[in-house]
Amino acid sequence: MRSHYCGHLNLEHLDQEVTLCGWVHRRRDHGGVIFIDLRDREGLVQIVYDPDLPDVFATAEQVRNEYVLQITGRVRHRPEGTVNADLPTGAIEILGLQLEVLNAAETPPIQIEEDDISEDLRLKYRYIDLRRSEMQHNMKLRSQVTRELRRYLDDQNFMDIETPMLTRATPEGARDYLVPSRTHVGKFFALPQSPQLFKQLLMMSGMDRYYQIVRCFRDEDLRADRQPEFTQLDVEMSFINEEDIMGTMENMIRQLFKDVLDVELPNPFPRMSYAESMLRYGSDRPDLRVELELHDVGDLMTGVDFKVFSGPANDPNGRIAALCVPGGCKLTRKQIDGYTKFVSIYGAKGLAYIKVNDVQQGREGLQSPILKFLPDEAIEGILQRSSAQNGDLIFFGADKATIVNEALGALRVKLGEEFGLMKEGWQPVWVVDFPMFERDPSNSRWMALHHPFTAPREADIDSMHSQAGECLSRAYDMVLNGSEIGGGSIRIHRSEVQQQVFSLLGIDDQEAEDKFGFLLRALRYGCPPHGGIAFGLDRLVMLMAGADSIRDVMAFPKTQTANCLLTNAPSDVSAEQLRELSIRVRKPQAEQAAED
Ligand code: AMO
Ligand code: AMP
Repeated sequence: MRSHYCGHLNLEHLDQEVTLCGWVHRRRDHGGVIFIDLRDREGLVQIVYDPDLPDVFATAEQVRNEYVLQITGRVRHRPEGTVNADLPTGAIEILGLQLEVLNAAETPPIQIEEDDISEDLRLKYRYIDLRRSEMQHNMKLRSQVTRELRRYLDDQNFMDIETPMLTRATPEGARDYLVPSRTHVGKFFALPQSPQLFKQLLMMSGMDRYYQIVRCFRDEDLRADRQPEFTQLDVEMSFINEEDIMGTMENMIRQLFKDVLDVELPNPFPRMSYAESMLRYGSDRPDLRVELELHDVGDLMTGVDFKVFSGPANDPNGRIAALCVPGGCKLTRKQIDGYTKFVSIYGAKGLAYIKVNDVQQGREGLQSPILKFLPDEAIEGILQRSSAQNGDLIFFGADKATIVNEALGALRVKLGEEFGLMKEGWQPVWVVDFPMFERDPSNSRWMALHHPFTAPREADIDSMHSQAGECLSRAYDMVLNGSEIGGGSIRIHRSEVQQQVFSLLGIDDQEAEDKFGFLLRALRYGCPPHGGIAFGLDRLVMLMAGADSIRDVMAFPKTQTANCLLTNAPSDVSAEQLRELSIRVRKPQAEQAAED
């Protein structure tokens, strides 16, 4: 239907007759001449209709925004003084010779050029929202990213293999989305939280190198970087160790950034242990663009006469950390209250601080409501460890280590942004040496920090049961600018080790057989050493696009409450469908509980 894309035309096409198809971006009447900006996927071009052709002119007068047109015209120079340097097609215009309205459009509920549109409206009319240039750019970028990733992996002899969507639960730590079976009454499929077990089985099947760009489903609390269905670039390799897979994946990401963004990432990526990352940044996904660091001061506080500090200082699970903010002295009471409120989101009960007016003067040069509780040695230690300078402010978190880490870890990044203490550019880092297990705070049982198929370090296997808390795993996470973009591990490839891990996690033989019998059997029929990783494709593209939310790089995302405003899913189903599935819908849980 067309000879060119609108956005591709330029001075090279002068005097050519072209046929274009697209949407009316804008129509202007200028004293007897009508200008139409016609838009397609590749951009905009200006069409001019003048009254010399009365029929065509009359049609041009009728068109409105978002009408779909097919036009034919001749490319010509724009008159002097009207060249638009901001537009790739801005040196030319098309003298319109024909015009056919392929489809009229009602007045769109979203103005394509507006920036400030409510997200609900954007999601409801997503097909219009996606016409906006920002969204077109994001979709193109995403497509380019998957193309480059596929190219790299294909070149490295990875095989693209699909795995089932209707399957059993895969333990990645979220709730499952369940699908009732009609043919097996009362039984359910689970949608995969990841293809974890299938990709391991593919290694046992001799496929050697696997990848898949695959949808995963997790019913969990949603945030800006989490969706109930999201896409992983999922990878698994056989006969490899950590270095092989980390090297291959690092190269892939470096090449991706070079090809798509023309950005050189460091070679190699720095590595940091989980323990160091928690200590210095309070997080296992440190944003290394922010130079602020946490400093442990608990050992200085064991004897102080201030319960807020002495409690955690004497608690093996407690932590007291200091965070020094350069120039923070100028913070007002109100601003400090604001930060106190911010850390309370993470469970922090307060946010003690010291303003450092003059370090030389020791105690006299400081200002703080908690100064009276702190002996000189503690003050000296704090100033020294935090390297505080005149004009700085030191914040303190004191609580269970988990709370202090989350609260001050998040505050660190917030302050970094607000105080302009954030370096430009890209800071990748591998986080390694994760603990194998952590305690479930609700019942203090051991849980797997990653999934339970992650291998422990060889040296830790024998002491796994007696010293579970000390046992480190062979897992690695790739972190970019404070976002976990990928995570994986070397897997357990011996059935006795797998059984040992299950037993430590409180999964007895019967449950292991019920849930993972197929895996345990497969491990006994010739399993190669193997390992892999999965990248969160949406997160990766979000970062590369500079978007604030993964919703902006997904064509049809769900809301924070996991529904689709476009199709109104989830929705009611007919009584007949429920009957076929032998399912009866009870009242919502809360109502039911109130009645019981
Ligand atoms: P993991 O659970 O760490 O590992 O997931 C891998 C990556 O997927 C992304 N991600 C998400 N993105 C958007 N929305 C979500 N709800 C969401 N959850 C996770 C993250 C994360 O780094 N099977 C293992 C991988 C392996 O061991 O090979 C797994 O799924 O970027
Ligand atoms: P209070 O004795 O509760 O008035 O607290 C004195 C100071 O300690 C205030 O600045 C509080 O914000 C701060 N504070 C209280 N609890 C904590 C805590 N868990 N961690 C850090 N600071 C705290």
